[in-house]
Amino acid sequence: MKNTLIAPSVLAADFANLQRDVEMINNSAADWFHIDVMDGHFVPNISYGMPVIEAIKKHATKPLDVHLMIEKPERYIETFAKIGADIITVHYESTIHLHRTLRQIKAAGCKAGVVLNLSTPVSVLEDILSECYMILIMSINPGFGGQKFEEITYTKVSKLKEMITKQGLDTLIEIDGGVTDKNAADLVKAGADVLVAGSFVFNAQDPVATIENLKKITAV
Ligand code: DX5
Ligand code: ZN
Repeated sequence: MKNTLIAPSVLAADFANLQRDVEMINNSAADWFHIDVMDGHFVPNISYGMPVIEAIKKHATKPLDVHLMIEKPERYIETFAKIGADIITVHYESTIHLHRTLRQIKAAGCKAGVVLNLSTPVSVLEDILSECYMILIMSINPGFGGQKFEEITYTKVSKLKEMITKQGLDTLIEIDGGVTDKNAADLVKAGADVLVAGSFVFNAQDPVATIENLKKITAV
């Protein structure tokens, strides 16, 4: 049985009760904290930055999976590593020298990953895959939580899984955007290893039970 990792997105937490929500994740079956950083340029929204991440890190007992939706992420890699990022993912579309940026993330002591927007084909990863701990496939246009899952994701995940297998790698595939109990199992069947869930977890009556259920239905 597969142990699919669940990464609740803190973007959907109650920021006035951040410690409470961090502890909820600590005490749940979740595996990672998904941390969305938006700069208002790469995506049309601004989320939160360093002080908030430091506050999360102070209480979190699980790894921080930091998803950078910012232009030229290479400017801030060392800073994010210093404040507690365990995994840093950068968008393929946001940095010209992707190879250099991935090496920079690893030199800073973090695991490195690449994120693809909906319109970016997985084929662009062919020559960079071996440098990646993880690939994040966006299943929405990044910038906001609570959007509808795009079906094209399944095809992209299958194609990527094939590419990873062909190269004999064990790169993880993460999915981000509109993940619910309706698509979670199918995503895992297509090849996903990590599922991010924001609004589905935090808007639920019982977030802990919702996370537990996502773990259960993805153990396929
Ligand atoms: C959006 C972020 C997502 C977001 C997911 O750009 O990258 O991580 O928080 O939220 P849901 O699960 O509500 O789609
Ligand atoms: Zn994200």
